[in-house]
Amino acid sequence: SVSSTFDFASNLFPLSSTTGNGYAPIGPPISASNDQTALGGVSLEKHKTLTYLNGLSLIVGLIIGSGIFSSPSQVNVNAGSPGASLIVWAIAGLLAWTGASSFAELGGAIPLNGGAQVYLSKIFGELFGFLFTWCAVMVLKPGSSAIISIIMGEYLVRAAIGAEAESVSSWINKSVALVGLFAVTLLNCISTKLGTRMGDMFMFFKFVALLGVTVIGIVVAVTGFSASGQANQDWKTIGWFEGTSTNASSWAVALYAGLWAFDGWDNTNYVVGEFRNPSRDLPRVIHTAMPLVILSYILANVAYFFVLPIKAINGSNTVAVMFGSKVFGPIGSLILALIVSASCFGALNATTFTSGRLVYVAGKEGYLPEIFGKIGAWRSEERGLNTIRTRNWASKKLAKMFGDEETGLFFTPINAMVLNAVLTTCYIFVGEFGTLLTFYGVAGYTFYFLTVLGLIVLRVREPNLERPYRAWITTPIIFCCVSLFLLSRAVFAEPLQTVVVVAFIGIGVPIYYWRVRGRDKSTKRERSDSVGEGHGWQFWKRFQR
Ligand code: ARG
Repeated sequence: SVSSTFDFASNLFPLSSTTGNGYAPIGPPISASNDQTALGGVSLEKHKTLTYLNGLSLIVGLIIGSGIFSSPSQVNVNAGSPGASLIVWAIAGLLAWTGASSFAELGGAIPLNGGAQVYLSKIFGELFGFLFTWCAVMVLKPGSSAIISIIMGEYLVRAAIGAEAESVSSWINKSVALVGLFAVTLLNCISTKLGTRMGDMFMFFKFVALLGVTVIGIVVAVTGFSASGQANQDWKTIGWFEGTSTNASSWAVALYAGLWAFDGWDNTNYVVGEFRNPSRDLPRVIHTAMPLVILSYILANVAYFFVLPIKAINGSNTVAVMFGSKVFGPIGSLILALIVSASCFGALNATTFTSGRLVYVAGKEGYLPEIFGKIGAWRSEERGLNTIRTRNWASKKLAKMFGDEETGLFFTPINAMVLNAVLTTCYIFVGEFGTLLTFYGVAGYTFYFLTVLGLIVLRVREPNLERPYRAWITTPIIFCCVSLFLLSRAVFAEPLQTVVVVAFIGIGVPIYYWRVRGRDKSTKRERSDSVGEGHGWQFWKRFQR
């Protein structure tokens, strides 16, 4: 399978390299200086392993998570009618697609790992790169983990106690979400490989679930089959646009919910440096993945409408379970609940994995206290092994199976992961699905907007910069206009959340001056270790010199 050939462990998080400090460079094609000594004797080429198919499975696996199984109610309620909801799904998908195309241009022009952090630093200065990292660490990553955990909790409780779950206190769901979060974090702390293998496995379920929903929906619509014998006739008689919302703010909230399901489209940009042929494959990945996902989401929504009465869809975060129970009875709802929780588990796993990396890099860059740039286990040069691995036969075996070849277990950014888990826990406590969605959307789209705006700025400022892939210029313009509409509407639709997001970003400014000026003053500190990672602004500056 595609996914199994893509070893996330060594590609995304090369902790297992053989540099002195245990970190591998995953950098850009440093043309002239691409000799192995430039970066501490480690070959860059070795890490340029991603192919088109790897990229495709990475991005599709990340995008299809919790959203398509849980956002429909949010979209429907706010859009007001089934027809309007389908339009919202299409707009959200197209918006994500234009965003991803714009990012593809940036990824080709600035072929470094790190995504928005690097682009913003280059275009608007390091302050912006810092603010992005700051928000990603404090809001975006833990916020998205919290949403996925909550959905996972809801579906697991559904699976365990069936229909009664509708009436249990949300604290039960949240407790289950916390247990899930804890498990995923632990998994990722123990071993990168263990975590990513799990991820690959769960990816399969997502496709099965979505494809299944679509096929079943169509079959049900054609045959009128239903477990109870009572097929849903709603869709034959409803006015598809009856009740369509005329309030722009409601449309914005509906869009945020749809956009959540499409979120993750920027993730291939975090690993651009590892593509064998980024300028060819990155756009190809995006132009296959996005239409595929858009199509399957729209089909799944149509399937929901075929099978379920609209009132039922609107009233629940667990649409997929109702869908299963309507068609196949209790067994159907159990199976769908399990599949969706597995899908969420996989998404949570992938997000935890990248969060760990992001926080870790922030620690290394000096954006966060250094402690977060440390890993759990250590390599003792004298013994050549880390202590955990040598303890006994069983742990040796485990290390072989799940650890990184030479390093064994716990060679992961544990501190970073703990920080992420603590923040996620806070969001799970205070948040609820609907509010978190908008919160995440506002924070996320602020930076997507800035980055794509940066593309336009860069076109004007550096017209001659080599751009292996050029997006059609209307693409970033459309993206900027629509996301600006979304952001401006958020002020009216969710004023409190907007204030919180703005406050978060604002707090980042003094912290930037404190952290980064402190960092740059201590020039004597040896920084070559973090440069070797090829991640982030520090590296970019050297690369240009
Ligand atoms: N689209 C995903 C879902 O439906 C969420 C992606 C979260 N974003 C991220 N960068 N991990 O669950």
